[in-house]
Amino acid sequence: RTIRFIGAPFCEGQNLDGADLGPTALREAGLQPLAEMLGWSWEDAGDLDFAAALEEEAEPPPKEEGRFALTCGGDHSIAAGSICALVYPDLGVIWIDAHADANTPRTSPSAHYHGMPAAHLLGWFDNGIDGFEWFEPGCLSENRLAYIGLRDIDAEEGRMLRASNVHVFTMREVDKHGIAKVMEMALSAIDPNGFRPLHLSLDIDAVDPHFAPGTGTAARGGLSYREIHYIAEEMAETRRLVGMDLVEINPGLDEAPQRSSMHGDDPNLKPCSPTVQLGVEVALSALGKRIM
Ligand code: ARG
Ligand code: MN
Ligand code: MN
Ligand code: MN
Repeated sequence: RTIRFIGAPFCEGQNLDGADLGPTALREAGLQPLAEMLGWSWEDAGDLDFAAALEEEAEPPPKEEGRFALTCGGDHSIAAGSICALVYPDLGVIWIDAHADANTPRTSPSAHYHGMPAAHLLGWFDNGIDGFEWFEPGCLSENRLAYIGLRDIDAEEGRMLRASNVHVFTMREVDKHGIAKVMEMALSAIDPNGFRPLHLSLDIDAVDPHFAPGTGTAARGGLSYREIHYIAEEMAETRRLVGMDLVEINPGLDEAPQRSSMHGDDPNLKPCSPTVQLGVEVALSALGKRIM
């Protein structure tokens, strides 16, 4: 199996610099050799050139099929492109986040696009946006989207979600049922017959800031280190995972490297700050890495 690594160093969907350093940090931490050790062949598509894209006529993101597309941000804005670019019409999406990113330009309190890509994909915007001519609003239908980990939702955003058919598992559901049951419920909600191709959109701020301090909109009370890994492991276990976003890792806001890694000393894992390391470790779990 082949993994196609797509660097998406875009941070204009919010007002902090540093999320654009994510793809380079993940490469330098050794994600490629670590994935290759799991049996993947690696294809690096390089970094998308957003500056050029703004100059020229907007081009649609290349359609991804057959390979596992790993799109590394960048802020969560890029999920509009990565998910729209997956050719599977019945794609199911598990969206792991502290936030729902389901605001529209009308409801957003911040006007930050990284708080809107889910609403855009669902077709909730009133109008099209200049430069998004390639975009297919509504390419993701409500019943094929499930969130896990939410805890910071804006008022109008919450009302729209409640009125929709989107499946929402907040941190409270994780408290109540445990992560194993929540994963089971989320997967059967978006994919009752267990045949759909699946995409994992993973915003690192879903994880508690204790484990993921290097991110722009941290929110307390998040997923534990093992809970995020369990989610990634279960996604791999379905054998139907076709794509993944790994977003909102901001090396510029991160803390000093720590001594421990997930599996003790691994010479392929290069010293890196803790949120970058977490990103590498979670990506590997989604690519099939297991404790035994
Ligand atoms: N709900 C807030 C907003 O719309 C925060 C969004 C945070 N999004 C993210 N991808 N970290 O501005
Ligand atoms: Mn920037
Ligand atoms: Mn978030
Ligand atoms: Mn997000």
